[in-house]
Amino acid sequence: MTQNKKLLAWVDEIASLCKPDEIYWCNGSQEEYDNMIDLMVNGGTAIRLNNEKKPNSILVKSDPADVARVEDRTFICSENEIDAGPNNNWFEPAEMREKLKGFFDGCMKGRTMYVIPFSMGPLGSDKSKIGVEITDSPYVVANMRIMARMGTTALDVLGADGEFVPCVHSVGYPLVDREDKTWPCDPENRYIVHYPETREIWSYGSGYGGNALLGKKCLALRIASVMARDEGSMAEHMLIMKLTSPEGESKYICGAFPSACGKTNLAMLKPTLPGWKVETIGDDIAWLKFGEDGRLYAINPEAGFFGVAPNTSAETNPNAMASLQENCIFTNVGLTEDGDVWWEEMTNELPEKLTDWKNNEWTPASETTAAHPNARFTAPASQCPVIAPEWEDPKGVPIDAILVGGRRATNVPLIHEAFNWQHGTFMGSIIASEKTAAADGAVGELRRDPMAMLPFCGYNMGDYFAHWLKVGKTEGAKMPKVFYVNWFRKNSAGKFTWPGFGENSRVLKWVFERCGAGAEANETAVGYLPTRESIDLNGLDIADADLDELLSIDPEAWLAEVPSMREHLEKFGERMPQELIDELNGIEERLEAELGCDKKAAC
Ligand code: GTP
Ligand code: SPV
Ligand code: MN
Repeated sequence: MTQNKKLLAWVDEIASLCKPDEIYWCNGSQEEYDNMIDLMVNGGTAIRLNNEKKPNSILVKSDPADVARVEDRTFICSENEIDAGPNNNWFEPAEMREKLKGFFDGCMKGRTMYVIPFSMGPLGSDKSKIGVEITDSPYVVANMRIMARMGTTALDVLGADGEFVPCVHSVGYPLVDREDKTWPCDPENRYIVHYPETREIWSYGSGYGGNALLGKKCLALRIASVMARDEGSMAEHMLIMKLTSPEGESKYICGAFPSACGKTNLAMLKPTLPGWKVETIGDDIAWLKFGEDGRLYAINPEAGFFGVAPNTSAETNPNAMASLQENCIFTNVGLTEDGDVWWEEMTNELPEKLTDWKNNEWTPASETTAAHPNARFTAPASQCPVIAPEWEDPKGVPIDAILVGGRRATNVPLIHEAFNWQHGTFMGSIIASEKTAAADGAVGELRRDPMAMLPFCGYNMGDYFAHWLKVGKTEGAKMPKVFYVNWFRKNSAGKFTWPGFGENSRVLKWVFERCGAGAEANETAVGYLPTRESIDLNGLDIADADLDELLSIDPEAWLAEVPSMREHLEKFGERMPQELIDELNGIEERLEAELGCDKKAAC
C-alpha cells in the first residue's frame, strides 16, 4: 500500500463520511479488473458479450436518466465568483461543502468504497499528474483502468510525500433497506463540483462518463486548466496526431473540436491520399508545455479512448473499429441476437432484430434508435492499429499546427488559416457549433464554444483567453500555426457537401505544406484560404458549386455574424482581453472595405 500520510488521512476522512461497508485499494491488476467485470455481470449491471465476437468485453446499460455530462449540474466553486467567470456555474465554496456533506454522509452504506490511485500521463513523466479517485462504482473502477495508468504503479510514483488531486465520487444510492439497481444513480441530485483553489473534485449522483471518470474532464481539463494557467502551460480539449508525408517527413497536429465533433475520427484517420500516414497520440485531451527549444510539446494524459459509438464504422473509422474488437466496455449500445454490439451506421446491413439500449426489442422498423446517441466504447489506446510509437513518450511531441473547428452547416469554409497567434486565439474564441448529444439538452442549436473548452475551462474564460495570448508572448516561443476547419458544411438539401473522414487528409496535406515549404493561399478578410489548385483534389468526385462554397467566404454573411461574435466576446466582461476585440474590429473593417461600405453607412 502507501506510506503517503496525506492520502491515508484523506481516505480515512472520506470513509468516515461515506460510511461504506468495506474499503478496497485498487492495485490495477488484470485479476482485479476481471473481478470487477464478474461483479458487474453477477449483479446484472453488465452483460458479457459473445467471446468469439468481442473477447473479454461487456455491455452496460445506464439508467435512461443518466446518459451524458450534465453541464447545468457542473460547478466551479472558486472563492470569488468572478474567477469562475460567466462560462461556469458558480457556487460559494463553503456553502457547497455543507450541501455536499449532506449528500455524501452515509452515501456508501451497504457498498464497497474503492480507492483508485491513477496517473494522468505516462508514469513518472514530469508532465504527468497523480490523482486518487474514491468511488462506490465498480463500473468506474473498470473504466478508469482503461482510461488511466491505475493502481500500485501510480502509488509508487506518488511516494510518501507526493501531491495528488483528491477526487470523490458516489453514484448516490446507499443500500439502506433497499435492493441495488443495475445502474444506481440519483438523477435528481447530481453535483459535479470543482474547487479550483484547493484542487479538489467531488461528484455525486451520476455514474456516466465525464461525470464519473474523474481523471478525464474534471481533473485533466477543469483542474488541469487552472494548474496550466499558473504554470504557463496549457490543458486543452484536443486530439494529438502525427502526420507523415510520402517523403517520410512528420508533423504533429493538435485539434480542438467540441464534444462529438470529430476528434476521435481525425486522430485515427485513414488517409485517402496515397502515401500519407496518420498515427494517433491522443483523441480527446492534450497537455502542452514549452520545451527548451521554445516549441510546445504535447502529451496525451489518457491511456484509453472513451469514444462516441454511433456512426463509427469500418468505412468512416476503421482504426476505431479495430481498437474496439476486444477488452472493451460498451455503454448504451444495442445487443445483437448473437451476443455482439450494434449501433446506428455501424454496418450497411441492419440486424433483423436486437435488444436496444433501453432493453426493448428493436427492429429496423422501430422509430427509436438501437443505441443512445451518446453511447460510448471504452477501449485501451494500445489496441489502436495506428497508435504512434511515441504516444507514451514522457517528453511529448512538438506541435506544428493547432486546428480548431465545430459543426457549421453554413458560412464557415472548409479551412482557413490564422495570420498569427493572436488571430488564431481569436479564431478559437469564436468557434461555434451545433450542439450534440454529448451533453444533456437540446441537440442542433448553435452555440459558441471557445476552444471547445466552454464546458471544461475551470476558470474565467476571459482569463483563459488572456492566458493563450500570454503563452504566445513567452520569450523564445515558436508557436504552432492555427487553422479553422469545418467538415460539416451542408447544402440546401441538408446534405454534407464535404465527404469528410479519410478525405480530410486532403485538408491535412494543405496544413502540412503551409507549415513547411508552403502551399498557395488567398489572403481574405478572415484569414488565408487555399486556392483551388493548392488543395489536392485528385480522384475526388465533388460538385464544382459545392467546392466553390467550401473554399471561399461570403463577406456579407460573415459581416452579418459579427454582432453575434461581439455579443459572445462581450459576455466575458471585464476579464475579456482587448486584443481579441481588436481582432474582431479588424475583421469587421476589412469585410466592410471589401464590400465597399463603412461602419456608419448601411451596406
Ligand atoms: P468527444 O469524445 O465527445 O469529445 O467527441 P469527438 O470530438 O472525439 O467526436 P468523434 O470523432 O467521436 O465524432 C463524433 C461524430 O462526428 C460521429 O458521429 C462521427 O461519425 C462524426 N464525424 C466525425 N468526423 C466527421 C467528418 O469528417 N464528417 C462528418 N460528416 N461527420 C464526422
Ligand atoms: C466529451 O463529452 O467531450 C467526452 C465524453 O469526451 S465525456 O467523458 O463524457 O465528457
Ligand atoms: Mn471530449
